[in-house]
Amino acid sequence: MPEADTEGNRYYADQVQKTPGFFLKGSHQLDWGMKNRLARVFDPRSGRTVMLAVDHGYFQGPTTGLERIDLSIVPLLPSCDALFCTRGILRSVIPAESGKPMVLRASGGPSILREELSDEQIAMDMEDAVRLNAAGVGIQVFIGGEFETRSVHNMTKLIDAGVRVGMPVMGVTAVGKNMVRDAKYFRLACRIIAELGAQYVKTYYVDEDFETVTASCPVPIVMAGGKKLAELDALTMAYNAVQQGAAGVDMGRNIFQSDDPKAMIAAVHAVVHKNVRPADAFEMFQSLTAKGRSPTKEACRS
Ligand code: 5RP
Repeated sequence: MPEADTEGNRYYADQVQKTPGFFLKGSHQLDWGMKNRLARVFDPRSGRTVMLAVDHGYFQGPTTGLERIDLSIVPLLPSCDALFCTRGILRSVIPAESGKPMVLRASGGPSILREELSDEQIAMDMEDAVRLNAAGVGIQVFIGGEFETRSVHNMTKLIDAGVRVGMPVMGVTAVGKNMVRDAKYFRLACRIIAELGAQYVKTYYVDEDFETVTASCPVPIVMAGGKKLAELDALTMAYNAVQQGAAGVDMGRNIFQSDDPKAMIAAVHAVVHKNVRPADAFEMFQSLTAKGRSPTKEACRS
């Protein structure tokens, strides 16, 4: 086995990577179509995105909050910048009139009934993503997982297909149950995903040294939400992530499992696009909830 170099420590997190002529990190030398799709997902005004992740059914079935996507998620569409979903939900539930950019889950295989989840394959042709007018596709990459090589190869095949048609690929750092979730792991995983060509990376927030994860990744990072937290904690995590260099979030459960998803996504939007502090965003969440201005809540009441 070749001797591994020790990891560096010169991240210069305070020095922004230059992207002359385009607003998004590492994307300035891409083709027009790729840039155009990225500019639909990431708001050029803030350089950030609030993606709403609802792809969970691809291995978990009708999980909490996603039992009826037509009732719980469709009313949230106006409040997100992009939806991350499967092509099955897109075709069957999401109104084609929606002007929102759609990023499609492109990997699949094992369900939650299996112990080993890393045994995924590409689960969608790039041709279908184009047919569906997708703004991007997303794929799990299991760095350190049992099927690491296969999942990396899945991603590179998808990237090659994406480059041919101008479709950005979001590589998702998928962490095995017993693996350590720290900055060192995410630096490694995000960097491998970016080096192998993904146009952006979805990864988890870590309390320590997250800025080294974003600084050492040459393409944008969107923060994954993870398990449901109290609203203030989720807003704090999103705030810290964007302040430490993330180009937004791709959050699911912390939005759709909230007592008031509509109010929560509005608060996340304020944190991500307006740098509103967590305490103020939480106040906003509470006041929207109190005013009952949430269409989702109203739909549930009627
Ligand atoms: C896991 C995924 C999920 O399918 C989903 O998008 C996660 O969203 P959240 O953790 O915010 O509920 O990509 O890696």
